[in-house]
Amino acid sequence: MTDQATPMVTVESVTRTFGHGSGKVIALEDVSFEVPRGRLVALVGRSGSGKTSLLNCIGGLDRPSSGRIVVDDVEVTTLSERRRTALRRDTVAFVFQTFGLVPMLSAAENVGLPMRLQTAKTSVRERRVAELLDLVGLSKHKDQRPAELSGGQQQRVAIARALANEPRLLIADEPTGQLDADTGAAIMALLRDVIAAEGMTALVSTHDQGMMDIADDTVRLADGRLVSADDATFVGTGSRATGSEHQGRVI
Ligand SMILES: Nc1ncnc2c1ncn2[C@@H]1O[C@H](COP(=O)(O)OP(=O)(O)OP(=O)(O)O)[C@@H](O)[C@H]1O
Ligand SMILES: [Mg+2]
Repeated sequence: MTDQATPMVTVESVTRTFGHGSGKVIALEDVSFEVPRGRLVALVGRSGSGKTSLLNCIGGLDRPSSGRIVVDDVEVTTLSERRRTALRRDTVAFVFQTFGLVPMLSAAENVGLPMRLQTAKTSVRERRVAELLDLVGLSKHKDQRPAELSGGQQQRVAIARALANEPRLLIADEPTGQLDADTGAAIMALLRDVIAAEGMTALVSTHDQGMMDIADDTVRLADGRLVSADDATFVGTGSRATGSEHQGRVI
């Protein structure tokens, strides 16, 4: 049984650098914060501030250069490649700005894909796919391929697919970045609802004020450093922003 009191995500002094010598880029520098279980946390910051780098390290797609990350009581920074793949299959699900659907597969087949990888029984899988398509309001569009769906509908399929294996942590990297304001707002509301319905924790990078407004907490990066976060999540010792800065809008 997992201890409900431990955070879903703990990031401790994480640094990620790319390249060497004069070409060295510090994407993340000494970042520390926690995401409590059951929360929707917005990760904000200008382009290039390190949001994607951080999400990739937390979700096990990449490794930090130094520091420690614990997800659902498992230290992901020291996991083998095989165990990191298992983490991505069983614990964490990603939603990307570009949706990442398989073009040749229908909406229903895309949603069922992660369950195939987990070898779920066909009857179980079909029931879950129908349930998920209903949850995101796409039952009528289940046989359409991604190219036959609107951007907002494609992102709904991607969200349904992310939920397929009942992940404990949903990581979304600018999920509304390619959508118009109204569709983006609908996707945010959907995310908020499914996170509550499925009892998940979510970490969502965004440039969208609407997303920040519906999030429980906000974590803010500037040039790879954490500059502010709500009190509940902030555990760093670095540069803490003032209250007024913390309320400010991110461009
Ligand atoms: N694979 C890589 N090789 C070299 N540099 C990289 C790599 N990935 C990211 N960077 C650099 O790290 C920094 C942070 O990039 P990152 O993609 O994390 O930013 P971001 O906050 O997600 O930006 P955006 O809002 O534009 O998506 C940038 O300066 C970027 O150029
Ligand atoms: Mg990014």
